[in-house]
Amino acid sequence: VNSEKVQIRGAGFCYEVCVGRGLIEQTGHLTREKVGGHRAAIITDSNVPRTLVKKVASSLSKAGFQVTTVVVQPGEKSKSLAEIERICGEISELDRNSILLGVGGGVVGDLSGFVAAVFHRGISHVQIPTTLLAMVDSAIGGKTGVNLPAGKNLVGAIHHPSLVIADVEALVTLPLREMRQGYAEIVKHAIIRDSEMFTLLSSRVGLRDPVEGTCKVRQGDSSTLTPNAELIAHNIRIKADIVSADDRDVSGKRALLNFGHTVGHGIERASDFRVPHGECVSLGIVAACEISMKRASLSRSQRDEVVALLENLGLPTRLPGEIPREKIVEAIKHDKKFDGDNVRFAVTPQIGEAFVSREVTMDDIREAIATL
Ligand SMILES: NC(=O)c1ccc[n+]([C@@H]2O[C@H](COP(=O)([O-])OP(=O)(O)OC[C@H]3O[C@@H](n4cnc5c(N)ncnc54)[C@H](O)[C@@H]3O)[C@@H](O)[C@H]2O)c1
Ligand SMILES: [Zn+2]
Repeated sequence: VNSEKVQIRGAGFCYEVCVGRGLIEQTGHLTREKVGGHRAAIITDSNVPRTLVKKVASSLSKAGFQVTTVVVQPGEKSKSLAEIERICGEISELDRNSILLGVGGGVVGDLSGFVAAVFHRGISHVQIPTTLLAMVDSAIGGKTGVNLPAGKNLVGAIHHPSLVIADVEALVTLPLREMRQGYAEIVKHAIIRDSEMFTLLSSRVGLRDPVEGTCKVRQGDSSTLTPNAELIAHNIRIKADIVSADDRDVSGKRALLNFGHTVGHGIERASDFRVPHGECVSLGIVAACEISMKRASLSRSQRDEVVALLENLGLPTRLPGEIPREKIVEAIKHDKKFDGDNVRFAVTPQIGEAFVSREVTMDDIREAIATL
């Protein structure tokens, strides 16, 4: 097994993310190394391939765990308090030394993480992300929770996992559109932290002169965007660095991860969550670049490079016609992060760097949305 371990540490927590190929088959012993207990419950959704879930279950059995599996409906609707209650009922005979494994995308990760945070006042959680977005974003950082009718992620807890297992092989069945959602966060990471990765991504998706040698983004099949373990591990390190420095959202550093998300969330809400998160973030990144030209002296040519990369990844850079722009502005205004007329808005002065500006106004945001 070819794998790399990324350490995530902060005040009062420390855990490992294992990234590699064929790691799912190792779930049992990787878990055994970190936690005791005899019972394990797998939470997954019905779109996650059964073969994958079975591999996790049989590996856990071999390592001496008695395994229960709870399957939820795929999709955001499952992130509800009703679902928390149902899952807790299904696992009610598990004791406090049991472990809970989330096998799936961000929905399963957030849901299973919240159950792990509250069941018996907190049991061990193992994240097995199976979407690119979950691997590079939602499985890292310890944020768990569910939605209320009034809004997304309104009820939750910080509950760090004991272990994260990111197996690149799990991505082979992931639909291309889902893969793209993960790339939106990868592009965000590149813009806020890593100009080299930005250049690499741009060349590998055929923007500029293709670089000789192994193709990192399209390794294997050139018709897909299947990433390799190195790219995933690298992005986990970027998020881990920021989260470790600011695990409770206090220093404001974590706000950089919100780059593209103020407008992104506005579009998500204005579309009644019909446009997937990564696509909203892609549009939000374009808006944040417009604002960065005005408030952080980002050059137009760099803004154009960002737009070209997103387009080459198959992500949207123009607003779908059916979403009224004013509805987006209204949704952003209702965002709790608003304080008077100005927002804390993440901007980039040049690709690879970002800071939080307090100079961005609602008019700046409205103007940027008008250009989408
Ligand atoms: N906790 C955090 O810090 C954080 C950060 C970002 C996003 N999120 C949350 O993550 C969620 C979005 O996550 P997502 O994009 O992974 O969506 P998702 O969990 O809905 O997964 C997308 C779809 O892919 C399917 N799928 C998963 N793995 C698959 C595989 N290997 N092969 C085929 N299909 C597979 C799922 O069943 C689902 O239908 C949102 O609820 C969002 O709020 C949380
Ligand atoms: Zn996001």
